[in-house]
Amino acid sequence: MKFETKVIHAGIEPDPGTGAVMTPIFQTSTFVQESPGNHKGYEYARTQNPTRTVLQNNLAALENGRYCSAFSSGMAAMDAILKLLKPGDEIIATNDLYGGSYRLLRQVYENYGIHTTFTDMSDIDNIRSLVNGQTRMLWVETPTNPLLNIIDIESICSLGKSKGLLTCVDNTFASPYLQTPLDDGADLVMHSATKYIGGHSDLVMGVVIVNDEELAERLAFIQNAVGAVPGPQDCFLAIRGIKTLPLRMDRACENASRIAEFLKTHHLVDEVFYPGFADHPGHEIARKQMRHFGAMVSFNLKNDVMEEAWAIMSRTKYFLLAESLGGVESLIGHPPSMTHGSIPRAERLAARLKDSTIRLSVGVEHIDDLIGDLEQALGQQS
Ligand SMILES: Cc1ncc(COP(=O)(O)O)c(C=O)c1O
Repeated sequence: MKFETKVIHAGIEPDPGTGAVMTPIFQTSTFVQESPGNHKGYEYARTQNPTRTVLQNNLAALENGRYCSAFSSGMAAMDAILKLLKPGDEIIATNDLYGGSYRLLRQVYENYGIHTTFTDMSDIDNIRSLVNGQTRMLWVETPTNPLLNIIDIESICSLGKSKGLLTCVDNTFASPYLQTPLDDGADLVMHSATKYIGGHSDLVMGVVIVNDEELAERLAFIQNAVGAVPGPQDCFLAIRGIKTLPLRMDRACENASRIAEFLKTHHLVDEVFYPGFADHPGHEIARKQMRHFGAMVSFNLKNDVMEEAWAIMSRTKYFLLAESLGGVESLIGHPPSMTHGSIPRAERLAARLKDSTIRLSVGVEHIDDLIGDLEQALGQQS
């Protein structure tokens, strides 16, 4: 099956009882048993739910994996992955990652004796020099949030394999339509399904996809034992959202490339971060591992004044000022004070995230309206 067919058919059958084409929402907490242990595969909805099963099977197929576990948020999915580790284990992570992921690693897992070192993963030698006897996991996010750096998944996974480490790729920014890290050697792929997978800004969810049966069993154990599972209604919404993933991504990626070109020539704009530019340092790697260059674009203002970035963001009409990304509607945000507010300023500046950095999640509206909106918002700037 091609990707466009998989989003609609992989793991999804009409309901055998009624013929319903859409997967029913099994809004139940428990399932009847004929005698103890004699049931139809479902006992209690924290452990398994038929709507969730369909979603998990579909997502496993989209990532070219064998197993998927769904969680109540992207952070809960990451938390489940980190629970594969034990005190004393160490992680090497990219230094330009989602602020909430940084917070979980730094402010939660450090307290449980799991230490993370952050580094620029676009240079593989940085990682090689940090691996020590305690290192167990490499945490990759590519394209990175919000500076759209590109990390070479294949090279990192082969380094991870040679050192006996697990490599996990947060694939939220790309979606399985643009990039399938398991094919490049990753052991685990995670998503904030809140973003492109759901695609309509109407749910919060996370997923983890793997190929290895033992890893899958450990994750399913954690999913049930900890219990951060999504409800059936949210699973239904995700299944529905996924059906249009390739259509949405094609349009959003095309819009993003036009917007990046527009911003590049604007007199108030300094750097534009977009891996589709031929002179982007990760352009060739993006071409190798991604189908398109994604629908996220970030930029800095020439004067780098935070208040001026805020003023521009409060003037856009179609680009809604909001946290999150990956929905059909375009969003505008200020990572230094929003998604990355929990990263200390000095560390943020060291990772080249400036005071005026504005991030756009480009949606599927008409391109003329989107460019017109940015033009008027920037145009009123002195
Ligand atoms: C790259 C990335 N990973 C993880 C998360 C966390 O996901 P959630 O908000 O669904 O918990 C986000 C949320 O913005 C994200 O952008």
